[in-house]
Amino acid sequence: DRLRAEQAAKLDTQDAFLTALKSCRRCPLWESATQPVAGEGPEDAALMFVGEQPGDTEDLTGRPFTGPAGQMFDKALQVNGIRRQEAFVTNAVKHFKFRPRGKRRLHQNPDRDEIAHCKWWLDLEIQRVAPRLIVVMGGTALQSLTGSREGLLKRRGRFEHTPEDTPILVTVHPSYILRLPDERLRAEETARFLADLALAARWLA
Ligand code: URA
Repeated sequence: DRLRAEQAAKLDTQDAFLTALKSCRRCPLWESATQPVAGEGPEDAALMFVGEQPGDTEDLTGRPFTGPAGQMFDKALQVNGIRRQEAFVTNAVKHFKFRPRGKRRLHQNPDRDEIAHCKWWLDLEIQRVAPRLIVVMGGTALQSLTGSREGLLKRRGRFEHTPEDTPILVTVHPSYILRLPDERLRAEETARFLADLALAARWLA
């Protein structure tokens, strides 16, 4: 624990964090990814948003939620009067996991071990920012932060705590909504997602 505290102290700035993250070999995902994607936002943000992992776009830009899921996320923030610059936005897993198919790179879910290994980095971000509330978007983030993704759809819209006692708000991942085949269902789920973020917005006041 002392060693962990000393290591954490050295990674207490965004720059040091990113430099260290770039040499991460805790799991094999670094090998095929372009670069790791660290969280971004103010060091004293009240709200932290945690997604799954960088997608194809994020792997190239090096910034979280800058692709299609990011556009949906940005809109949802806007509707609720949350400025993205005032939130800390990050992911449970810092490297893009994919399977090549022709010229395309198809998203793959990070597995249990990859999520567990990358929790080290997420914990450092949580320690550094010490958010009042973490908005947990989707099963991967939920598993990372609570140890279980069971019952995600029942838990969404509710408040829980991490084992370290940070309040979390559970919601779905924007990509889940974008992938819904039925337009009406997509509209309903979008409305619920917006309502979840409205709960989070109250924590800014
Ligand atoms: N999906 C995520 O979970 N995170 C990103 O940064 C982009 C897409």
